[in-house]
Amino acid sequence: MSKQFDVVVIGGGPGGYIAAIRAAQLGFSTACIDAWTNDKGGPAPGGTCTNVGCIPSKALLQSSEHYEHAGHAFADHGISVSGLELDVAKMLKRKDIIVKQNNDGIVYLFKKNKVTFFHGHGSFVKAADGAYEIKVAGKAEETITGKHIIVATGSNARSLPGAAFDEELILSNDGALKIAAVPKKLGVIGAGVIGLEMGSVWRRCGAEVTVLEALQTFLGAVDEQIAKEAHKLFVKQGLSINLGVKIGEIVKGANDVTVNYTDDKGTEHKAVFDKLIISIGRTPNTNGLNAEAVGLALDERGFIAVDGDCKTNLPNVWAVGDVVRGPMLAHKAEEEGVAVAERIAGQHGHVNFNTIPWVIYTSPEIAWVGRTEQQLKADGVAYKAGTFPFMANGRARALGDTSGMVKFLADATTDEILGVHIVGPMASELISEAVVAMEFRASSEDIARICHAHPSLSEATKEAALAVDKRSLNF
Ligand code: FAD
Ligand code: NAI
Repeated sequence: MSKQFDVVVIGGGPGGYIAAIRAAQLGFSTACIDAWTNDKGGPAPGGTCTNVGCIPSKALLQSSEHYEHAGHAFADHGISVSGLELDVAKMLKRKDIIVKQNNDGIVYLFKKNKVTFFHGHGSFVKAADGAYEIKVAGKAEETITGKHIIVATGSNARSLPGAAFDEELILSNDGALKIAAVPKKLGVIGAGVIGLEMGSVWRRCGAEVTVLEALQTFLGAVDEQIAKEAHKLFVKQGLSINLGVKIGEIVKGANDVTVNYTDDKGTEHKAVFDKLIISIGRTPNTNGLNAEAVGLALDERGFIAVDGDCKTNLPNVWAVGDVVRGPMLAHKAEEEGVAVAERIAGQHGHVNFNTIPWVIYTSPEIAWVGRTEQQLKADGVAYKAGTFPFMANGRARALGDTSGMVKFLADATTDEILGVHIVGPMASELISEAVVAMEFRASSEDIARICHAHPSLSEATKEAALAVDKRSLNF
């Protein structure tokens, strides 16, 4: 007799493991199946985010930033460092330890919340009698049943035709997090989030980094003023960012890889790199789910088709996270996971897509919520804008990190905040205030009238809100 559960979650990334915990909290007998395997053959729940995404990338960003600061920024503080060396193996080991702590944390949370964990690959077998049969192929093979199924199988890196990832010379995000020695020349195809974050890591460590981007616009989804400022700062740091390129043949040598490309003026180039990262977006992971067996519908782009509530075309089958439409972000996946568990319980789980924050963890960080100035123009919305540069913020000066600005966009009539955009130190933390404000439909005047601690970076947020009404106090 197969094990029976109220809720079976396929995938143990941020969407899946959080959905499982919330379902268990709500009193459902819950199972979570995850296939990720560590280098010892054991389970490693947490998905892309924990294993080869958010967590390890931020660990390397931190290490490489310390290294860069020790090399340059410390001198301004009167601290001299001699014999500075980078131990890449140790830096990678630290990252691996942090990943494992997160894997172990999820195993602990499953135990605490009484979620039954299966390490293996889950696939649909059939639908019968108000429940679905799911085959789990792990060390042993077994079939379990669930009244509700939540699919949270995530996404995979998209490769370029003729340039399959070998994770030695041609790297996805996985290989980009494991480079054993600093490459002299690193190529990056795609100036998106991964390209800029991973390019920054290896540039800080000493690599000469060339970024090749197909579009003519740098960070097209980011507010234009913020993207321009960020572009200027990245170029100053030494990232070579080439926009409007057309990638041609990619040829692997014994120890290098040659990228043929045409630049935006039509000139042909042959660039030779020691390593090449390809970060041109990700594709939903539905492979091996056997979705056809139960008739689970995909959309035209290969994502699992869902409605606004994450319901698929099948009764009691839900899907969340990277495998469905919407931004590929861990916190979006988590919010959807919680909302689905609550909907299964008959509650009104909700996700507000208008207030999902975005962060790019470069230095300076870029963070935003809501609409950009170019979107407001396109939507024909009358708006007021206010900006405040970190250069005029006392805390930023004390930190020695004065690049960037905070920008507020508010409705011209009602003053409701429509978007907040930050490039600068700790933008990832500062953006939370704007998210809360927008959730409560605050006006820029509300933020302008709130007391912010001095000296703090958050005063730049208040000042940008004041600037909407042209009454900045410190600029
Ligand atoms: P995933 O995390 O991909 O998890 C899916 C899980 O399901 C995996 O463990 C997979 O092995 C498993 N699985 C798949 N199929 C099956 C099956 N049939 N049976 C069993 N298990 C299966 N987002 C942020 O918000 N902030 C960041 O800083 C950030 N940094 C990133 C950095 C990098 C380099 C990358 C690549 C991504 C980053 N992301 C970041 C994006 C984030 O990782 C994803 O949005 C998030 O992981 C999506 O969660 P998910 O649960 O939908 O899928
Ligand atoms: P991306 O969508 O951010 O950027 C891909 C870039 O590659 C785009 O600028 C695109 O124009 C370019 N591109 C596409 N095809 C190309 C080609 N043939 N030649 C040259 N350039 C090409 O995708 P990326 O960086 O792979 O990241 C995937 C997703 O992972 C992100 O969209 C994001 O959702 C998530 N992520 C989030 C992070 C965060 O929240 N800090 C960090 C890293 C990833």
